Amino acid sequence: NIYSVIMAGGIGSRFWPVSTSKLPKQFHDILGTGETLIQQTYRRLRKLSDPDKILVVTHKSYKDLVMEQLPEIPVANIILEPARRNTAPCITYAAYRIKSEDPTATMLVAPSDHLISNEDEFTRIATLACNQAEDTKQLFTLGIKPHRPDTGYGYIQFVDLDEDPKSEVKRVKTFTEKPDVAMAQQFLESGEFLWNSGIFIWSINTYMDELSQSLPDLYSAFEAGLSKFGTGEEEAFIEEIYPACENESIDYGLMEKSHHVYVVPSDFGWSDLGTWGSLHEHASLDENQNAQIGNRIVTYETKNTLIRVPKNKVAVVQGLEGYVVVDNEDALLICKLDQEQHIKTFVSDLKLKF
Ligand code: GDD
Ligand code: MG
Repeated sequence: NIYSVIMAGGIGSRFWPVSTSKLPKQFHDILGTGETLIQQTYRRLRKLSDPDKILVVTHKSYKDLVMEQLPEIPVANIILEPARRNTAPCITYAAYRIKSEDPTATMLVAPSDHLISNEDEFTRIATLACNQAEDTKQLFTLGIKPHRPDTGYGYIQFVDLDEDPKSEVKRVKTFTEKPDVAMAQQFLESGEFLWNSGIFIWSINTYMDELSQSLPDLYSAFEAGLSKFGTGEEEAFIEEIYPACENESIDYGLMEKSHHVYVVPSDFGWSDLGTWGSLHEHASLDENQNAQIGNRIVTYETKNTLIRVPKNKVAVVQGLEGYVVVDNEDALLICKLDQEQHIKTFVSDLKLKF
C-alpha cells in the first residue's frame, strides 16, 4: 500500500520573476511541454499509487490551483498548511493523515518541481525502495550522481551493504545538507557522494520512530492530536499547532541525524530545475548556446544566454553573453548567469523597496 505525497508549498524564489509566491514554479509549465511541474509529478506517481492514495501538501492559498491542475485527486487529499514551516512539518502532517487511514502504509515523498526524464527507471527504483521500506526500519532516499559542486543540495556518502555488497541499496554513512563550496568540491572529487534527490521512502511506523528521536517537539505536537486526523477536528487542531511548529527542513531535522538512512543510487534523468541556469542546461539550445523560450525572439551577437518572454511578445537581444533575460509582463530580470544565486536576495530586497 503505497501512499505518494507531493510537497508543493515552496515559493521557488530563484525562478523569479516567473515563479512568485502567488504562482510558484510547481504550478508553471516552465519548459513549455503543456504540463505544469506538479502535473508531471502527479503523472509519474500515478504509476505507484492510485489517485485516492496521492496526497498534496501545500499552503492553503494554493488549494484552488491544486484542484484546478490535479482534478483527479479527491479534495480531501489536498492537505492544507495554515503557515509555511518547511518540509519537516509538511511531511509530518502528511504522515499523520496517512497513519489515520492505514498505520501500516509505506510512504513516498516527492518534491513537486523536479524533472525526471526516464520515468520507467524512476518507477522501477521507487518500487524497489518501497518494497524494502515496507518491512524494514530503514529510511530511503534516491541518490543522484553529482556533476558539479552545487551547494543547494544534500550530499550523501554511501557504502556497500556488508551483508550484500552487490545490492542496489547502499548504506548511508553521512548526510550533509547544503555544504559550503569547498566541502561540496571535496565531496564531488572523492567520488563517494551522491546528491539527495529529495525523494524519500519509508514506512509510516519507521517515520514515527525516527521523528520521535530526531524532532521530539514536532512529534509530540502531532501525536497529541492523533485521534483527530481524518476527522472533522483535524483542521482546527492543525490551525492551532501548525504555526507554532519550528521551521525545519526534513534534511537538517531528520536525515542528517538518523542512523538508519539508505540510498538507492539512481540514474533516471533527474534535474532539480532549481534555477534559470539549470533550465538553460535542459532547454534546447540554438547554435550560439542560447535558450529561447517564447515565439518571437530575435538575437544578434548573443551567446550562452537564456531568454524567456511571454508567448507572443516580441523581444530583440543584442550583444549579451552569459545572461538571463526573463520578462513576465509585470517584471523584468536581466542578470548574469553566474550570479543567479543572488536572485533570492533580489526578491527579498524588492519586498522592502516596493
Ligand atoms: N507543503 C510544503 N510546505 N512544501 C514545501 C515547503 C513547505 O513549507 N517548503 C518546501 N516545500 C516543497 C518545495 O515546493 C519543493 O517541492 C520541496 O518541498 C523541497 O523544498 P526546497 O525548498 O526546494 O528544498 P531544497 O531544494 O532547498 O533542498 C531539498 O531538495 C534538494 C534536491 O532538489 C533537499 O532535500 C536537498 O537535500 C536536496 O538535495
Ligand atoms: Mg528545491
